[in-house]
Amino acid sequence: MPSLSIAATRLPAPEAAEPFPGTGDLLELETELAKVRLLPETMSPHPRLVAWTKPDEMEAEQFRRLAVRLQGLRAQREIKLLVITSGAPREGKSLIAANLAMIMSRLSRERVLLLEGDLHRPTLMRRLKLSEKAPGLGNWLEKQCPFSDCMMRHPTESLWVLPAGQVQRPPLELLEQARLSNWARQLKQHFDWVLVDAPPLLPLADANHWTAIADSVLLVVRQHMTRRSELRQVLELVDSRMLIGVVLNDSSGPEHRYYSQYYYSRRSKD
Ligand SMILES: Nc1ncnc2c1ncn2[C@@H]1O[C@H](COP(=O)(O)OP(=O)(O)OP(=O)(O)O)[C@@H](O)[C@H]1O
Ligand SMILES: [Mg+2]
Repeated sequence: MPSLSIAATRLPAPEAAEPFPGTGDLLELETELAKVRLLPETMSPHPRLVAWTKPDEMEAEQFRRLAVRLQGLRAQREIKLLVITSGAPREGKSLIAANLAMIMSRLSRERVLLLEGDLHRPTLMRRLKLSEKAPGLGNWLEKQCPFSDCMMRHPTESLWVLPAGQVQRPPLELLEQARLSNWARQLKQHFDWVLVDAPPLLPLADANHWTAIADSVLLVVRQHMTRRSELRQVLELVDSRMLIGVVLNDSSGPEHRYYSQYYYSRRSKD
C-alpha cells in the first residue's frame, strides 16, 4: 500500500486569528460528545486502512512520517482543521484521511476527529465494515438526530469519527457557510486535530465550503491518474496561503519529483 510523499511545507506568516465565540455552544458540544457511542472493539476495517489494521508495520510508516511533518508545521502556525482534498475523484483522499487520523491519534494521544465531509460519495463506514445506514453529518445537518448520535469514538484511541451519514437535500444547501464556520470554531476548541475528508475540488462546489473554514489544505495527487491540467486548475483554485503541502499517493520511483518541483516553482512566484 501507499507510497506517499509530502512535498512543499513552507508556510506564510500566520494571519491574525479570529476571536473565539462565546462558550455557551461549546458546553453543549461537550455534553453531546460525552454521550457518543464507541466503535465496536471487534471491527475489522478494510486492509487498505493500514494504520488501523497494521499500525506497527512498515506500511503505516508513510503515514507516520506525514503526521510528524504536519505536527512539526504547527510550530509555525495553528493547524487544527486540516482539509484533505484533490482535484478529481478517486485520488485517495479518503484513504489518506482515515489512515492519517488513526496514526495521529496513536502518535500523540491528541484528540483527533476524522470528519467525512464528502456527502456525495461516503466510503468511511464501508471501509470500517460498519453499517452504512448509521447516522452522520448529513443527518445532523438535516436536524434528524442529535450530534451525539452521529459520531463515534474509538474504544482505545483518542480518535472520534463523524461519518457522512445520509442526506435528502443537496449537500451544497446543507453546508451553509455561516453555520459551518461557527461549528468549526467549536470543534477546534474541543479537538487538537480535525481532519476533513473533503470531496474533489474540480467537479463539485462543496469542497470550497470546507476549504473556506480550514486552517490549511492538504492536496492529494495520485500518480498515473492526476492530470497536469487538473493540478494546475486546482493550484489556481486553492488559496496558496492555505496550501500546506501536496501528498503524492500511489507513488513509485523518482517521478514524484515532478509534483514537488511544480509546487515549489509556483509558490516561489507568489
Ligand atoms: N495508494 C493506493 N494504492 C492502492 N489503491 C489505492 C491507493 N489509493 C487509493 N486507492 C484506491 O483507489 C480508490 C479511491 O480511493 P479513495 O476512496 O481513498 O479516493 P477518494 O479521493 O477519496 O475518492 P472520491 O473522490 O470518490 O472520494 C479506492 O478503491 C482505493 O482503495
Ligand atoms: Mg473520498
